[in-house]
Amino acid sequence: MATEDIGSDYVRIFDTTLRDGEQSPGATMNVAEKIAIARQLERLNVDVVEAGFAASSEGDFESVRKVAQALTTPVVLSLARTRELDVDRALAAVDKARNPGIHIFIATSDIHLKYKLQMNREEVLTAAVWAVARAARHLSHIEFSCEDASRSDWDYMVSLLREVVAAGATVINLPDTTGHAIPEEYGRMFSYIRERVPGAERVRWSAHCHNDLGMAVANSLAAVKNGVRQVECTINGIGERAGNTSMEEVVMALRTRKDLFGIESRVNTRQIYPASRLLCQVIGWPLPPNKPIVGDNAFAHEAGIHQDGVLKHKLTYEIMKPEDVGIPSNKLVLGKHSGRHAFVDRLNHLGVDTAAIDVNKAFAEFKALCDKKKVVYDDDLLALVTEESRRAGDYYELAGLSVSSSNGAPPRAEIVLRVGGQERRGAAVGDGMVDACYKAIYQLAGVQPVLERYAVKAITGGTDALGEVSCLVRQGGLTVPGQGAHSDIVMASALALVNALNRLRLGMRNNPQPIDEEGP
Ligand code: KIV
Ligand code: ZN
Repeated sequence: MATEDIGSDYVRIFDTTLRDGEQSPGATMNVAEKIAIARQLERLNVDVVEAGFAASSEGDFESVRKVAQALTTPVVLSLARTRELDVDRALAAVDKARNPGIHIFIATSDIHLKYKLQMNREEVLTAAVWAVARAARHLSHIEFSCEDASRSDWDYMVSLLREVVAAGATVINLPDTTGHAIPEEYGRMFSYIRERVPGAERVRWSAHCHNDLGMAVANSLAAVKNGVRQVECTINGIGERAGNTSMEEVVMALRTRKDLFGIESRVNTRQIYPASRLLCQVIGWPLPPNKPIVGDNAFAHEAGIHQDGVLKHKLTYEIMKPEDVGIPSNKLVLGKHSGRHAFVDRLNHLGVDTAAIDVNKAFAEFKALCDKKKVVYDDDLLALVTEESRRAGDYYELAGLSVSSSNGAPPRAEIVLRVGGQERRGAAVGDGMVDACYKAIYQLAGVQPVLERYAVKAITGGTDALGEVSCLVRQGGLTVPGQGAHSDIVMASALALVNALNRLRLGMRNNPQPIDEEGP
């Protein structure tokens, strides 16, 4: 069981990419992808991983369980409402974790009590204490959150938290659920409440901010200034609506301005860039080029006067070093003469867990890519391995594709699709080659979803670049993304659709119910 070392002074990083992050529309991940992200979080050396919301669906329960089993160092926890079923499912999902934890929450603002929970303050207090006490019989790491804390009455939170701490909570989180707070006020809330809750010095205080007004990082830092020693965040700042506090921004702000904060996190910052790239590959979201820390332009100096200064001395315009966040100084990596050792070495440098992939297969694919492409970049390599792990254990598998198009005749696609291990062959014509492929795949899979979005992006420069396709498909009230990467754009498109169909099938099987928030 995890022991709390409340005494040592550093800022714990609580990563919620797999829970709050996954709540971003279109950021759904399958179990294999969640494990890949979780392993990268462990390499980053984050302190706590929120693996999901075990009671929300069978699929979420399974993925929390698998992530809990896959990790060694961080605390792994599941979110839970104050209901008996939630608490018990969360406890069961993490019971194999080396360092298990639970995160119980209930709203405390009058707005939520009146319109969402339809409970009075006393009832909310009773539910919170009951849930914490139940979990405390099994675990020592119990986080409790006052949802919508930044719009809650401070004195009410003091009276509730007094009981919750006495019942066994070891971490108290005061979230800015709606992204409504301003730094000075958010920081002051922590000081006010910490001064008044008996035993406040024995628990860890946590900040959890949303970015609706673009204040999530600033609010989290204001909380740190007011004694908070845990920040909840996500890779690339993904999350509900405008997102959560960005892990890389808060970690690098603490590090770069240690003169001001006097405290840091324990994150291995060189794993930041690989984490960011991995997440982009998994969920298929491109980053804006000006995204702090990890965007393409974050360290690019365009103006002549800046370039001149940087050439004379980097400190003139650079407050951080790109290599400190893991941005490779030499993005040009390998060629057709590179050996297996160099290949594995480069993957390790990029943060890929080579023990978790079929290296021989990946190396063979790399060699095939070298035959097509003169120059293979880090991003090509990452796309190639992500594509490999993305397909592992899939129900639908693309086993063959051939397309033809000529003047006068409509484009035609012939597809071989493995469905649950059985090979099916079919052909279709369409308005273009991608359209023909998609029609043939729908026929063979026996599904007819609506294609809501389709986008192509070249991962690296040149006409021989690896292309990345992302799509969004909808069927029966479920919308899922799909990604595919290949040097042939039609092939990448087909892989993206097949990836989406696998997610759709998983989603349908798990039959996720919308989480009903009415009640404790
Ligand atoms: O934003 C929020 O309030 C949350 C809680 C569940 C902690 O995500
Ligand atoms: Zn949140």
